[in-house]
Amino acid sequence: MTNEPTRLPPVVPLPRLVVALGFLAARTTVLRAMVRRYGGVFTVHLPVFGNTVVISDPVLAKSLFTTNHELVWREATLGSVFGPGSTFSLQGTEHLARRKLLVPPFHGRRMAGYEALVEEEVLRETASWSLGREFATQPSMMRITLNVVLRAVFGAQGAELEELRRLLPAMVASGSRLAVLPPWACRDLGRLSPAGRYGAYRRRYDALIAQLIAAARSAPDSAERTDVLSMLLAARYDDGEPISDAHIADELLTLLAAGHETTATTLAWAVERIRRHPNLLSRLAAEADGGGSELAQAVVWEVQRTRPVVEGSCRVTRQRIKLGPWVIPEDHVLAVSFRMMHCSDGNFAHADTFDPDRFVGHPPDTTLWIPYGGGVNRCVGAAFANMEMLVTLRTVLRRFEIVPTTAKGERGRFRGVVTAAARGGRVVVYRRGFDSRPSPAVAAAAASQI
Ligand code: HEM
Repeated sequence: MTNEPTRLPPVVPLPRLVVALGFLAARTTVLRAMVRRYGGVFTVHLPVFGNTVVISDPVLAKSLFTTNHELVWREATLGSVFGPGSTFSLQGTEHLARRKLLVPPFHGRRMAGYEALVEEEVLRETASWSLGREFATQPSMMRITLNVVLRAVFGAQGAELEELRRLLPAMVASGSRLAVLPPWACRDLGRLSPAGRYGAYRRRYDALIAQLIAAARSAPDSAERTDVLSMLLAARYDDGEPISDAHIADELLTLLAAGHETTATTLAWAVERIRRHPNLLSRLAAEADGGGSELAQAVVWEVQRTRPVVEGSCRVTRQRIKLGPWVIPEDHVLAVSFRMMHCSDGNFAHADTFDPDRFVGHPPDTTLWIPYGGGVNRCVGAAFANMEMLVTLRTVLRRFEIVPTTAKGERGRFRGVVTAAARGGRVVVYRRGFDSRPSPAVAAAAASQI
């Protein structure tokens, strides 16, 4: 909090319409041009957000992420979709109290316990992959990550698992559409209206979660259960109170929405990237066969650096604050651009080159590498996503030969929350160790079909 007069970072002097059209046509190119011209912090009028301070300077980003929630917070705009009990709807001390209960089930030490489950889902999904024909991996990755969350986080099995598998993609899509409608269009006018349709999905969802909660509570092995739902049911706030069942339903939906498409999209980008680096591909396959993971880990980090699926994160000032040399007034939007921070040569040598070896033996500096955000809203599921991506890559590499390609890299396409590979991370594979494995000539021909 400060009483000093407003001192905003340099203002981009372009008409709003020009900025809006530029962002619509080529967001990354426009942002890069602005960073080149104004540096790691500037003010621009963005479509939807209005006047926004865009930050890619790591020192300012860290300072913003660690600013007290009395001064700055994330707006609770997703409450209408996930419900009032979601981490994304909670603010300030309520949010911190919930995080305290949500973080332990996702602690890195627990993650090895989920590896077998992830491997099983990858084997099940990839059993139907077509051999020798190009296809997009994104839909497969979406099914894998959905099933993994439903089993590991929701603890679902049997009939409930089957129904949630069908219900949730449609429900999340319907909720995302609702989230961007103006308030007057969000009234429930019956089953054919967007809100009516979402309401029907949500009622069925709540009924299924009530069944899962009842089953988890009455399970004879409830104390040994390792799914996140069971741990949330056992968790207690500092005053001894449990999380209410309604809030647990909202939170599970949040975990699914936050963890499913983000992880799947990163995996599809990983396939897109490694196909374009044949030497890396052979080294990865050899490492997977030998049971190692150092290079695969470096690949995951480098994919997240060069293709962060969540490109940035916004905060809003609640009071006038000082941020470095700047004074930002109350109710002002600040956006940290992960994408711009990651592609700065000042932060990473030859930042535009995809080079996982930069991270072999040197884990990323987490003040410069921030695909999971930072501060009190940093991703709760980071260790879970990392484990899931490593196991998926390892399982695919052990089972399939991925055919390299010389085709141009896929462009990014913004899908509402994440930026995905525009063609879905297309691939050609053959099964390893089977007769169908191609000769090098066949593999080269398949690669040139693209
Ligand atoms: C590669 C995969 C993932 C990426 C790139 C990612 C990215 C992010 C980012 C950038 C944020 C911060 C948002 C902000 O600052 O406003 C976030 C928050 C969050 N993520 Fe993830 N995420 C991933 C996977 C997951 C998974 C697997 C889960 C759980 C199953 C999860 C659960 C959450 C939750 C609950 C939050 C909200 C934290 C809070 O506000 O306190 N995420 N994620």
